[in-house]
Amino acid sequence: MDNSQKRKIIVAIDGYSSSGKSTMAKELAAKVGYRYIDSGAMYRAVTLYALENNMIDPDGNVDSGSLGKALGDIHIDFALTPQGQHTLLNGEDVEHRIRSMEVSSHVSPVAAIHSVRQALTALQQRFGTEKGIVMDGRDIGTTVFPQAEMKVFVTASPETRAERRYKELIQNGTPAKYEDVLANVIERDHIDETRAESPLRKAPDAAVLDNSHLTHAQQSEWLLNLFHESELKANGSEC
Ligand code: DC
Repeated sequence: MDNSQKRKIIVAIDGYSSSGKSTMAKELAAKVGYRYIDSGAMYRAVTLYALENNMIDPDGNVDSGSLGKALGDIHIDFALTPQGQHTLLNGEDVEHRIRSMEVSSHVSPVAAIHSVRQALTALQQRFGTEKGIVMDGRDIGTTVFPQAEMKVFVTASPETRAERRYKELIQNGTPAKYEDVLANVIERDHIDETRAESPLRKAPDAAVLDNSHLTHAQQSEWLLNLFHESELKANGSEC
């Protein structure tokens, strides 16, 4: 069976913040010719909208009623640019702004709001109707695509993840302190794991990847092998 005849699959990559899942997901998608969707970017874009429209007070409380009503006015999409895939919020490229510490520190309470999750889950499912996608997030294998043919749960220690996020911020020219980044990682883990709706959980049928001590090449190889196995399984014994 050649590649064009193969039945495409859905790849769900969930895990903790800054576990490196986006990089892994992006690379896998490019290697196998699938579309990559960053579901965290969608929650970040909604958070940016809420911040810009004064729906989050100085204490960090989100006006969930107003945000719920505004969801119909929030249009999120992705565009392929020479710098990679960028997130669009109502047509505007917000890729850089959604990665700021301000958005990072307000996104968890926004992602815990029922109406926000409902709207974004529906949008994510629309992206998957044709299959052939790699989507990363927190609840992709449990809630968005419980039927995904390949599920991965990525983890690493909070210190390893804070170090990565800190380096990323500094490289992008965003001022940051390691201690603040670590505190943010720990706080987000807690909110993501304990929220009532779609908490961060490993799907029972997900393969676990703890990448605290793995090289980039080892992770890529592991992921690609799992993809080929999953694709083979989805195509029966014909491929
Ligand atoms: O992966 P990230 O750090 O860019 O995600 C940003 C936030 O969005 C994170 O706090 C958890 C939330 N999120 C979620 O609740 N569900 C998803 N599918 C993806 C992200």
